[in-house]
Amino acid sequence: MRIFSGIQPTGRKHLGNYLGAIRNYVAMQDEGEAIYCVVDLHAITVDFDPAELRERVYNTTAILVAAGLDPAQCILFRQSDVPEHTELCWLLTSVTAYGELSRMTQFKEKSEQQKSFVSAGLFMYPVLQAADILAYQTDEVPIGEDQKQHLELARNVADRFNTRYGETFIVPRHRIPRVAARVRDLQSPLKQMSTTASTEQGKVHILDDPDVIRRKFQAAVTDARRDVVRSPDKPGISNLIELMAAARGISPDDVEREYAGAPGYADFKRDVGDAVVKLLAPVRDRYGPLRDDERALEAILIKGADKARAIAADTITRARTRTGFGRPQ
Ligand code: TRP
Repeated sequence: MRIFSGIQPTGRKHLGNYLGAIRNYVAMQDEGEAIYCVVDLHAITVDFDPAELRERVYNTTAILVAAGLDPAQCILFRQSDVPEHTELCWLLTSVTAYGELSRMTQFKEKSEQQKSFVSAGLFMYPVLQAADILAYQTDEVPIGEDQKQHLELARNVADRFNTRYGETFIVPRHRIPRVAARVRDLQSPLKQMSTTASTEQGKVHILDDPDVIRRKFQAAVTDARRDVVRSPDKPGISNLIELMAAARGISPDDVEREYAGAPGYADFKRDVGDAVVKLLAPVRDRYGPLRDDERALEAILIKGADKARAIAADTITRARTRTGFGRPQ
């Protein structure tokens, strides 16, 4: 069983990224063949600073390794080191409908945010993502709800290619992470914690100072009642209960039992903050020395790219042959 996932090289990963994705990546590297890609080619679909991009790739790589990804156990690489992704992306455009891409909600949202310039790359984003996945004959793709539409597109594209040109790709399945923690914004708990949409107070970064984390939880939005229970009209407290459960590896029911009869929210909020600090402390401690050694990070990425490329090249050769490109093999 092979799994593949891509992660954006954004500067600072937050708690939602950690509980929703990164922690699962670590768990899954022992279950099958796991391939993780830092998707720098996707980063240029919106405004970006070339000088910063490489730094961000290092930041993200160091976070992943600090969180427990073992480059000897999985394949961890940088997308732009494997040019097969871009070639396959082009081959896939012939079986991707313009209308399909226009319906992508992420494209619609992001193109509205980019007021002055909407790049063609932003429109093509899901095709490149499909190429990432299909190049590795991926069985399962662990991603959050927000990426389901993109995976559906990748499945359609694979299916269409196979039908039109002959069996070439495995049609990948969506994998819902076993502990699917959906982390919400601490200030606007109806919304997801988000790198771009959340305010500084609304999100907790993996590398935040412990005191900063504690303060953000103390200031988290709750409600006018005092019972620590999950309820649709208590999105803030519900989020904190689920967060504490995820951080401590217990069930939300356990959390509610523990705080039954608590006099108010203050102790609970403090304890959630402490639990999250404890969860993130080892990652933060390991991050510093890892991030300082860029040569070692490069060595990890290059080694990963060599392994990745061996797999992707095989798929691309088949896809080229099927479509009649290049000299006969
Ligand atoms: N679009 C994904 C995100 O924003 C990142 C991504 C790129 C990805 N390529 C991928 C995820 C392939 C899974 C598989 O999170």
